[in-house]
Amino acid sequence: MRLKDKTAIITGAGSGIGNATARKFLEEGADVLVTDVDVAALEELVREFPSLEILSGDVSRREDVEGIVSAAMKKWKSLDILVNSAGITARNVGDHASLEERWDKVMEVNVKGSMLMAHAAVRAMRESGGGAIINLSSVMGFAGYPTALDFSDGFNPYPSSKGAVSQLTRDMGVHFAGEGIRVNAVAPGFVHTSLTANVTQDPEILKTLNGLHPAGRMGTADEVANVIAFLASDEASFVNGAVWMVDGGYSAQ
Ligand SMILES: NC(=O)c1ccc[n+]([C@@H]2O[C@H](COP(=O)([O-])OP(=O)(O)OC[C@H]3O[C@@H](n4cnc5c(N)ncnc54)[C@H](O)[C@@H]3O)[C@@H](O)[C@H]2O)c1
Repeated sequence: MRLKDKTAIITGAGSGIGNATARKFLEEGADVLVTDVDVAALEELVREFPSLEILSGDVSRREDVEGIVSAAMKKWKSLDILVNSAGITARNVGDHASLEERWDKVMEVNVKGSMLMAHAAVRAMRESGGGAIINLSSVMGFAGYPTALDFSDGFNPYPSSKGAVSQLTRDMGVHFAGEGIRVNAVAPGFVHTSLTANVTQDPEILKTLNGLHPAGRMGTADEVANVIAFLASDEASFVNGAVWMVDGGYSAQ
């Protein structure tokens, strides 16, 4: 039980990596507040795990973010861990959206959302005597989008948003280290979640995506959650400002 007596907020927990992380954190003994814009998904999760705290909210809206962190502090009087898993791609914004709308929305959720959540969490973690923040970057925060996949046109906001999340992680990691607040990120390769489901339905695209990873396959949400749980735990006490690849060797090629 590596997270026994720890309190944690997990954003984007209605699906995918955030959902797997919530399950893992419960297994490891943490008290967990899960949040998402998808209220139905949160309600389903709490039916399965009644000990979870749930609160819907949009991470790109400051009033929602402040409400989420305040609720955690009201309930527990301390906050030890924040996992920023809420995130979108341009595909989530929709085909009708203009170039600028797609760009702004992805940046707003992935970059501004992670920053706002961290900003509110740092205040709470100072009151709690320290903490750990884990952001979700991506292999796409390091490399250009694979041209073998034709759903990126060179003006895809997603890689830039994840590059920004990596830098947010390093900058915050350096800044807050002296206060006992560790800030790290995981950078997954392509992972089977609802974020990728609409493209992996196509067997040819799935084959291409699998082939991009030396492991010969895409990852699972649990494989990412395992690394997040380690980074959140005291076992990672000397890991700070780091962006860890969890990509089956993708970035090592
Ligand atoms: N799946 C992948 O291949 C992959 C790879 C690298 C990084 N990531 C990153 O991991 C994170 C989780 O992705 P996933 O694959 O689990 O996606 P997912 O779509 O399965 O889950 C994302 C969750 O975030 C929620 N969300 C979206 N916008 C929100 C907002 N404004 N406020 C609050 N919640 C919001 C969604 O409702 C959803 O439940 C994202 O940041 C994503 O960019 C995913």
